[in-house]
Amino acid sequence: MTSSFFSLVVVTFIVGGIGLTTQEPCEPGYVTDLEVNDNFTVSWKTPDDENCQIDHYFVYMSFLNGSIQHTYSVITEYIHFTHLRSCEAYSIRVHQVSSDNIIGLGLGILLVAPPPEEANLGLNFVNVTQVGANVRLDWSLDDEWRTCANRYRVVVVNEDSNDAMDIYTQATSLILNHLVPCGHYTLTVVALFTVFQEGPITAVRHTAIDRITTAPAVAGITVEQTSVTIEWVLEEYSSNRCPINSIVIDGSPSFNLTYPVEDQVNRTPLPLTISNLNTNSMYYLRVRADNSAGPSSPTLLAVQTRTAS
Ligand SMILES: *[C@@H]1O[C@H](CO)[C@@H](O)[C@H](O)[C@H]1NC(C)=O
Ligand SMILES: *[C@@H]1O[C@H](CO)[C@@H](O)[C@H](O)[C@H]1NC(C)=O
Ligand SMILES: *[C@@H]1O[C@H](CO)[C@@H](O)[C@H](O)[C@H]1NC(C)=O
Ligand SMILES: *[C@@H]1O[C@H](CO)[C@@H](O)[C@H](O)[C@H]1NC(C)=O
Repeated sequence: MTSSFFSLVVVTFIVGGIGLTTQEPCEPGYVTDLEVNDNFTVSWKTPDDENCQIDHYFVYMSFLNGSIQHTYSVITEYIHFTHLRSCEAYSIRVHQVSSDNIIGLGLGILLVAPPPEEANLGLNFVNVTQVGANVRLDWSLDDEWRTCANRYRVVVVNEDSNDAMDIYTQATSLILNHLVPCGHYTLTVVALFTVFQEGPITAVRHTAIDRITTAPAVAGITVEQTSVTIEWVLEEYSSNRCPINSIVIDGSPSFNLTYPVEDQVNRTPLPLTISNLNTNSMYYLRVRADNSAGPSSPTLLAVQTRTAS
């Protein structure tokens, strides 16, 4: 390319003048508005404030490893590429050339040849595997188009609350670690190629694995002579949807009671009364909430009944 560089000194005689003016050759600046259009066309403009008279443009097309593949000389402000290898990335550099034949500095842009229309851009599979308490998503694309996919979009839709979360990744797997136990999800994955081209969406349904609920908390205690009423606060439904089926109040060796629970979406504090107790007696309670994953850890509590009046 150095062979194209040469300086041309233009000597101008001012008509009617006495002096002799030597004009410097004009070195062009950068092009502007350099962009890649969806049809393999790279376009640019000569800026309005360009000082030089632009005669034509040099366009260098190279692979990302730097080896130059083609050099073009064009008078248009665009170049239309054909026969690009699908999924190959090219660096396109555009230089202005002044009427003095001075080549300006080049401006570069990346062109990734998209996959052809008929390419199968669908994912081969989307797998969901349980890894401990987490979920791992794996997917794959045909080898042929894999280098073309610049990233993937995963959408995690919580079907119960209608919340959706978008995750973009260049990897072909993802760990999801914040799923609500027993929650219902739709997981979708799509490969993204260019701004305009994306593959079809693959969706899988998933119900999150169950998990024991938190230990019940005490909201209030009412003590009588032979009974105690305790109000229990259970884990919020939105953070664990696994159905709670009973509350076990273990006052061994005196008693061990199981209260069946009809689970509710709002899970308001639940009052439970223990009757037939002795007056003025201390009871040590271990209280657990039982759901589909088993009993929670216990809440420990000591209560004393009133003395007889
Ligand atoms: C390519 O797209 C550009 C802008 O989107 C348009 O101006 C141009 O005519 C198109 N060229 C071809 C060859 O389709
Ligand atoms: C540069 O990359 C192209 C295409 O990927 C390849 O054909 C060429 O051999 C590479 N050149 C060098 C010097 O590595
Ligand atoms: C995903 O599922 C497909 C089809 O069931 C199976 O062939 C593949 O081995 C699975 N891949 C992984 C990583 O589990
Ligand atoms: C109390 O009852 C529960 C539920 O039936 C049981 O799991 C637990 O072992 C019992 N406690 C004792 C001390 O037997």
